[in-house]
Amino acid sequence: MIFRRSERKKTQPRPLSKKNKLQYYYYHILSWPQLLQVAEATNGDIVGYVLAKVEDEEAATAAAAAAAASSKDSNTSSGGGGTSTTSSSSSSPAPRSPAPPAPNAPEVHGHITSLAVARTHRKLGIASKLMQATHTAMAEVFGARYASLHVRVSNAAAFHLYSRTLGYQIRGVEDKYYADGEDAFDMRKPLVLS
Ligand SMILES: CC(C)(COP(=O)(O)OP(=O)(O)OC[C@H]1O[C@@H](n2cnc3c(N)ncnc32)[C@H](O)[C@@H]1OP(=O)(O)O)[C@@H](O)C(=O)NCCC(=O)NCCS
Repeated sequence: MIFRRSERKKTQPRPLSKKNKLQYYYYHILSWPQLLQVAEATNGDIVGYVLAKVEDEEAATAAAAAAAASSKDSNTSSGGGGTSTTSSSSSSPAPRSPAPPAPNAPEVHGHITSLAVARTHRKLGIASKLMQATHTAMAEVFGARYASLHVRVSNAAAFHLYSRTLGYQIRGVEDKYYADGEDAFDMRKPLVLS
C-alpha cells in the first residue's frame, strides 16, 4: 500500500453526470492540493482518499459582513424595495487560492470535506493514515490550528474513527444537516505541529 499526496493527473475524477459534483472536486483539488491524500494499492488502484479544505473564520466573518453591508447599501440606493440578486454569491464565497503558510495565524482551520475507503480495503488502517497525513499538511502548510468535520449521527464506523482513533470531540449536533434529514455531529480536533 502506498500513501501519497495526490498527483492531479491521476486523481482527476471520471466524467460525472452532475456538473456540480465535478466542480466540487475540482474546487478542492485546485485550491488545496496539499490536502488531498490518496491510498494506492500495489496494482495502482486508488482505494481511499480524503478531501479537505482550509477555512479562516475571521476572513469568512469579515466577508459575510462586507457582503451584508453591500447588499444593504444596494437595497438602500434602490429605495430599499428591490429584490437582492447578490444573495447566492454572498453565501458562496468565490474559490480562492491556497493561503500562504501562516504558522501563527489565528483562527485558520482545516475542514474534512470527504473521506472514503473502498469496501475491499476497510479496517486496515487506511482512513486513519489518510486523515493523519491531511492533519499534518493542514498544520504544516496552512498553519491550521484545528480540524473540523461533520459526520452522520448513524455512521458508527466513521464516528469510531474520528472520536476514538483520531481524538475528535463533539462540539454540537446540527439538525437535519444532510439532504435526507439526518442530523450531523459537528466535531473538532486541535492540531499540534510535531
Ligand atoms: C469510515 C471509513 C472511512 C473507515 O475507513 P477504514 O480504512 O476502514 O478505517 P480504519 O481502518 O482506519 O479504522 C479506524 C478505526 O475505526 C474502526 N472501524 C472501522 N470500521 C468500523 C466499523 N464498521 N465499525 C466500527 N468500527 C470501525 C477501526 O476498528 C479502527 O478502530 P481502532 O483505531 O480503535 O482500531 C470507511 O468505513 C468508509 O469509507 N465508509 C464509507 C464512507 C464514509 O462513511 N466516510 C465518512 C464520511 S464522514
